Amino acid sequence: MKDFLSITDLSKDEIEEIWAMAKHLKSNPNNDLLRGKNILLLFEKPSTRTRVSFEVGINQMGGSPLYMDASTSQLSRGESIEDTGHTLERYVDMIIARVYRHEDLIKLAMNFSKPVINALSDLEHPAQILADYYTINEKFGKVEGIRVAFIGDGQNNVANSLILGAAILGAKITIASPSRYQPKQAIISLAEEIRKGTVEVVEDPIKAVSNADIIYTDVFTSMGQEKEKEERLKVFLPKYQVNDELLSKAPKHSLFMHCLPAHYGEEVTKEVIYGPKSIVFDQAENRLHVQKALILKLFKINLK
Ligand code: CP
Ligand code: NVA
Repeated sequence: MKDFLSITDLSKDEIEEIWAMAKHLKSNPNNDLLRGKNILLLFEKPSTRTRVSFEVGINQMGGSPLYMDASTSQLSRGESIEDTGHTLERYVDMIIARVYRHEDLIKLAMNFSKPVINALSDLEHPAQILADYYTINEKFGKVEGIRVAFIGDGQNNVANSLILGAAILGAKITIASPSRYQPKQAIISLAEEIRKGTVEVVEDPIKAVSNADIIYTDVFTSMGQEKEKEERLKVFLPKYQVNDELLSKAPKHSLFMHCLPAHYGEEVTKEVIYGPKSIVFDQAENRLHVQKALILKLFKINLK
């Protein structure tokens, strides 16, 4: 495996290997395993968590992160992805890219001879989900058989990777979305091909949370969809907001996750984010530890 563009680029065993490294790195954060490595973060969209957790993680392992905003690179003046990739492979050892179009990521990976990590595309957010199932494993001691309820836009990048990750790791996932925002057939088919009986799709969020261990939501309007915001709010609100009332229908032991950033009064309330079920900041922290392990895995570097 050269790149990590989709959560399906990893097998269950490989994910567990990365998690074991992440666990070690969580209590031993500093090393010099990336000494001499220059790693480029090439971003077309804003970011707080992904950018900072990758940059800090690379620094903690002695490597050098460089950030390039695509809008100030020559890509913005029409230089091709092919030429960009072939140029950058002469300078840097890895690219961590956040893009609008997943096809652009694939093109970059094909024209850059070293590893490329997907730091979010319109199709998937696999680095997020690799860390999120680590967090679930940390909280419940397992992922196999865990019931995840995702409430909201069942077609977005986070939902797609969450569904595919469930199939790989043996979790059960119920997506509660309005009919026009339910998961695309291609994602459901791929998940069912990996593991039968992984995905259930419903319209009723109460049904989805009623036997869930994890209740997960994400924004109704993802980056790049801003023009659709008003229309989306009309379809999603008030039914698909995760608030205390909806959580009162969930099992007592259930926990709440959100990849963040949160939009209060839309997909979630502030009471939920700061409430007793919320693990959103543990979730954000684990991005750091798991992504460090992911980088080592892609470079085939073992922990000493
Ligand atoms: N969850 C996440 O990817 O956050 P950022 O957009 O802040 O990186
Ligand atoms: N679905 C969101 C995730 C942000 C981390 C988006 O793409 O904007």
